[in-house]
Amino acid sequence: MALALAKHGYAVCFTYLSSAKQARQTLKELRAISPASQMVRCDISKVRAIERAFAFFARRFKRLDVCIANASSFFPTPLPNVTEKEWDNLVDTNLKGTFFTMQCAVRLMIEQEFISRIITMSDVSASLVWRRYAPYTASKVGVQHLTKIFAKEFAPTILVNSIAPGTMLLHPDRDAGLEKDILKKIPLRRLGTPDDIVKAMLFLIESDYITGQTVSVDGGRVLF
Ligand SMILES: NC(=O)c1ccc[n+]([C@@H]2O[C@H](COP(=O)([O-])OP(=O)(O)OC[C@H]3O[C@@H](n4cnc5c(N)ncnc54)[C@H](OP(=O)(O)O)[C@@H]3O)[C@@H](O)[C@H]2O)c1
Repeated sequence: MALALAKHGYAVCFTYLSSAKQARQTLKELRAISPASQMVRCDISKVRAIERAFAFFARRFKRLDVCIANASSFFPTPLPNVTEKEWDNLVDTNLKGTFFTMQCAVRLMIEQEFISRIITMSDVSASLVWRRYAPYTASKVGVQHLTKIFAKEFAPTILVNSIAPGTMLLHPDRDAGLEKDILKKIPLRRLGTPDDIVKAMLFLIESDYITGQTVSVDGGRVLF
């Protein structure tokens, strides 16, 4: 998504937490296209860290056109054994982190005299009932609801929408039957790709008359 934005003329500031090596590589690729791009380490589950990342951004950039709240934690949590630590990890990263990222973004955006955009990342599972992922899916339902609240509150100058990916990338160590089982539940009969998400992101960035919506990019997975 960062590289696609750079190719469309944006200077990009992205965050990472633990993947410093991959982040440096991404920054190198970004700067080859868009030299002003930056990266900043940020633990999105901590409000102070989000505020520091936005302060870093504000010192280096004159305007904020698009904020994408993408960082997320994801792992199974079978119901009888969910721990407080697991709950806090998933909900603080995905829900609290998205809320305070949006709050920091709108503080910059409301001062601007042009239309700006926020895109949150939710998940098709927010519309399904996955028994092994309760804290994760509850956090993504929350993200979709926050998307509507921010869209209503900050219209007409800030457009806020969400992308709900279906299954895009599977873990390399997955068991062999998993992909087959998942494909049976996807009417378009393939997994999604990062490019499918990029297309939805660019659509939402170009659109002037859509706000408060969740765009499912899931090959029809939600129909099952
Ligand atoms: N991939 C899918 O099939 C799929 C399906 C549905 C929804 N989604 C949603 O789409 C978005 C992107 O998914 P993805 O597959 O790219 O996720 P991913 O590969 O698991 O990457 C998650 C990213 O979030 C960052 N992150 C995790 N915890 C963080 C924290 N506390 N503070 C800051 N950054 C943190 C990680 O940074 P570091 O690596 O630097 O630690 C990593 O770059 C997520 O919101 C996800 O829920 C993905």
